[in-house]
Amino acid sequence: MPLLAIETTCDETAAAVVTRSRQVLASVVASQEQLHARWRGVVPEIASRAHVERIIPVIDEAVRRSGVARSGIEAVAVAVRPGLVGSLLVGLAAAKAIAAMLRVPIVGYDHIAAHLYACHLAHGESLPYPFVGLVASGGHTSLFRVRSPLDLDRLGGTIDDAAGEAFDKAASLLGLPYPGGPEVERVAREGDPRAHRLPRPLVADRDRLDLSFSGLKTALRYLVRPPGGPADTPPPVGRARADLAASFQQAVIDCIVAKLELAIDRTGCKAVAIGGGVAANSALREAVEALGRRRGLGVFVPPRSLCTDNAAMGAIAWERLERGDDDGLLLDVMPGTDRSRRGR
Ligand code: KG4
Ligand code: ZN
Repeated sequence: MPLLAIETTCDETAAAVVTRSRQVLASVVASQEQLHARWRGVVPEIASRAHVERIIPVIDEAVRRSGVARSGIEAVAVAVRPGLVGSLLVGLAAAKAIAAMLRVPIVGYDHIAAHLYACHLAHGESLPYPFVGLVASGGHTSLFRVRSPLDLDRLGGTIDDAAGEAFDKAASLLGLPYPGGPEVERVAREGDPRAHRLPRPLVADRDRLDLSFSGLKTALRYLVRPPGGPADTPPPVGRARADLAASFQQAVIDCIVAKLELAIDRTGCKAVAIGGGVAANSALREAVEALGRRRGLGVFVPPRSLCTDNAAMGAIAWERLERGDDDGLLLDVMPGTDRSRRGR
């Protein structure tokens, strides 16, 4: 019998039905991209309200597509951290109502650990623990030693912007719409990644597994609009824009790959896995594959649909249910992050 997973941490309203053997029977994602596009970023109040409107239809659709009767749902899983508090609360309220109605267990799960569990879902037993895991999304960029699905040691991560946030800001500077990552990737395909010399912050610092993207964004900004130049300089177009996008994307990838390699050196792990929206980026995926070939590592990358936010990765909740956990109706959200991370 399956669980129902619910995911409303940021701007996707998602629900999935996943069996105990980790088979995804249905996964529905309602994106709010269009609602936030004009603000070039997620507006929390708009996100919460959209979740309220969509959560029940999305859950209904997931259950309908799964072919499972409502009474066949064995447990409810819900992402309880990290995320926007108003968004998280909508998912939690729905999860509690359903768990109470069906009289089944409810378990909360960690959205970041779930992003890496997407690799587990996609690759099953061939994913060897421990591995070095990178989660790069719109709100987070962190490196972990992943001992088991629920046991992650944070090794480092961004000290300022998340990688996805940097892509979104770069897109905005280049006159491209939100969300920026896929747009920068598309435009970068026509450009030369060596056209501009952009910084690789913290890469030379081999004592730290930290990353920094805000200086990179500022460097791009000065290339687009040189200091002292007119404030109304229009965004670049054509080949100039493609070269800027490709150079920016390459700088982000070089920083990430350098720290992945350092994390491998430090931990002695034999495998690398990536997750989160930025892991959908083809150039990053290829660079991590190349690192794997160079260092003789296993590389585990989820399909793109499991990189961006979804509820199928809520299958991680089975790891808790199988050990008998039930958080009960006092379960609460934990919007913030902490430095070490337990799936729960
Ligand atoms: O994991 P996700 O869907 O949501 C969060 O948990 O934040 O990640 C969304 C982020 C956005 O910043 C988006 O621009 C970025 O992932 N992203 C990409 C690509 N697809 C999505 N960044 C680079 N290349 C992509 N192809
Ligand atoms: Zn995410």
